[in-house]
Amino acid sequence: MQISVYLYALIACSGLTLSALENGSDAPALLLVSFDGFRADYLNKYSLPNLEKFFSDGVLVRELTNVFTTKTFPNHYSLVTGLYAESHGMLASIMYDPVSKKHFSIQNDSDPFWWDEAIPIWVSVEENGYRAAAAMWPGTDVNIHNHTLKYTFKYNSKVSFQARLRNLTQWMTEDKSVKFAALYWEEPDWSGHRYGPDNTTEMGNALKEVDSHIGFLMDHLNKTGLWGKINVIITSDHGMTQCSPERLIELDKCISAGSYTVVDLTPVAAIIPLEDNSTVYKNLSTCHEHMKVYLKNDVPDRLHYKNNERIQPIILVADEGWTIVKHGNLPRLGDHGYDNMLPSMHPFLAAHGPAFRKGYKMSSFNSVDLYPLMCHLVGISPKANNGSFARVRCALVNEQCGELALAVGIVIGVLIILTTFTCLFKLMKNRDASSSRPFARLELDDDDADDEPLLE
Ligand SMILES: *[C@@H]1O[C@H](CO)[C@@H](O)[C@H](O)[C@H]1NC(C)=O
Ligand SMILES: *[C@@H]1O[C@H](CO)[C@@H](O)[C@H](O)[C@H]1NC(C)=O
Ligand SMILES: *[C@@H]1O[C@H](CO)[C@@H](O)[C@H](O)[C@H]1NC(C)=O
Ligand SMILES: *[C@@H]1O[C@H](CO)[C@@H](O)[C@H](O)[C@H]1NC(C)=O
Ligand SMILES: *[C@@H]1O[C@H](CO)[C@@H](O)[C@H](O)[C@H]1NC(C)=O
Ligand SMILES: *[C@@H]1O[C@H](CO)[C@@H](O)[C@H](O)[C@H]1NC(C)=O
Ligand SMILES: *[C@@H]1O[C@H](CO)[C@@H](O)[C@H](O)[C@H]1NC(C)=O
Ligand SMILES: *[C@@H]1O[C@H](CO)[C@@H](O)[C@H](O)[C@H]1NC(C)=O
Ligand SMILES: *[C@@H]1O[C@H](CO)[C@@H](O)[C@H](O)[C@H]1NC(C)=O
Ligand SMILES: [Zn+2]
Repeated sequence: MQISVYLYALIACSGLTLSALENGSDAPALLLVSFDGFRADYLNKYSLPNLEKFFSDGVLVRELTNVFTTKTFPNHYSLVTGLYAESHGMLASIMYDPVSKKHFSIQNDSDPFWWDEAIPIWVSVEENGYRAAAAMWPGTDVNIHNHTLKYTFKYNSKVSFQARLRNLTQWMTEDKSVKFAALYWEEPDWSGHRYGPDNTTEMGNALKEVDSHIGFLMDHLNKTGLWGKINVIITSDHGMTQCSPERLIELDKCISAGSYTVVDLTPVAAIIPLEDNSTVYKNLSTCHEHMKVYLKNDVPDRLHYKNNERIQPIILVADEGWTIVKHGNLPRLGDHGYDNMLPSMHPFLAAHGPAFRKGYKMSSFNSVDLYPLMCHLVGISPKANNGSFARVRCALVNEQCGELALAVGIVIGVLIILTTFTCLFKLMKNRDASSSRPFARLELDDDDADDEPLLE
């Protein structure tokens, strides 16, 4: 009978804990910040004192494995949906949909059609009765799933970092129902493209400015009373690699310009053959030793870049640092979009706030894992996704992890075994002692379906 009381108490307790966790109304707000094109190893190569201050009191994840294509829109959408590009539908910077015959470009991104294959976290947050706020994060000014944010900016690259942050914190402090805020900044991506990541002078300047923005962020959160109260995640979409006029792949040298249409060109080209598929494929596949050529169905599974109408019949993938052109000059000194296995394509992540450990470092996780983590932080249930909370939970202060978890596990295990043996022993003794109380009494197939007698 003591066992049953104990079991009932245990069940009641875990039920309470679960419901407390599931109700997000007490959870602090979350601010998600992206510095576009912040390659993971910039952290080792450049001095970033404010960023170091930020994660020394929080969590640093040195490298995130992001999604293919390692471009801005696919990865920003993966961060907020937990889905690979083939599953959220935002596949590249330029897209064509053969069914609707619609065209997408990042300059003309406001048609919900391109976004509606997934539900981003800010929509779920508002569907749960809270509010979300955003400053320039891709998609946050689009009416996704018939949902327009009240607190948002129309995209305008000229609005300063400070102005973006000031509005966000104003919305967060004036409206306590704001649970999630997203902030986007264009650097160091812009400088990486223009000067190439190997130009340490220019990248040093760009990263100095990014670091000063992080300093402003900490100061400003401190001034507005949010620092230490809310959870803050600083991350990025992808890295950057050096390109060169010596590493050009010229399609015109392999195939006649009239035999195909190109939707997006470099470093991942999407090709629609206009003539016989096999000739176009044959000519392209022997075109250059530093360019891989796939028929849509043969794209390697690990890239998760196959199952979507918006992926064209032939996909070309340049090797790291190579640029695909039809003819002519190198367009940019730095680029990204390449295979997501390349370390140069990976961004980093840092986090600070009441939910996070302090001074904790992790080597890596997947960028799709961030979504279930963020849903956990704001207390909403995640939609179906490709991430894993189990891979990221060790970043959180309330999760038992590593050696401590093992020790606790062993202690609990030993206790359970001891308790079981003690109980069994007692039961056996009772059974031997009184034949008037058969062991079968404990079984539930009794006439009396109610298990109340167990409690007596
Ligand atoms: C749980 O969340 C709802 C809103 O979804 C809120 O009205 C309610 O007060 C919350 N309950 C607790 C115990 O926090
Ligand atoms: C933007 O895209 C829409 C369709 O999605 C198209 O009708 C419109 O012409 C495009 N605008 C520009 C400026 O390309
Ligand atoms: C979108 O929302 C508006 C305003 O709430 C509503 O009038 C309209 O019917 C909705 N449209 C769809 C397609 O759900
Ligand atoms: C940002 O805040 C300023 C000052 O409060 C306000 O004038 C401006 O309209 C806000 N911007 C947006 C996009 O709401
Ligand atoms: C870096 O970029 C600047 C400005 O374009 C240029 O003057 C300088 O030569 C470059 N340095 C290197 C090492 O490429
Ligand atoms: C926040 O402000 C207080 C007082 O102005 C200061 O002592 C503290 O160092 C600041 N914290 C951060 C992280 O800037
Ligand atoms: C394919 O390559 C061959 C040999 O280089 C060339 O003669 C032919 O015109 C090419 N076909 C197309 C469709 O470009
Ligand atoms: C090429 O193959 C695709 C299917 O992969 C097909 O839809 C298309 O009609 C073919 N095009 C040509 C020109 O053969
Ligand atoms: C990713 O998640 C979506 C939604 O659950 C699912 O449809 C898809 O099959 C998943 N992809 C992989 C590779 O597991
Ligand atoms: Zn980007």
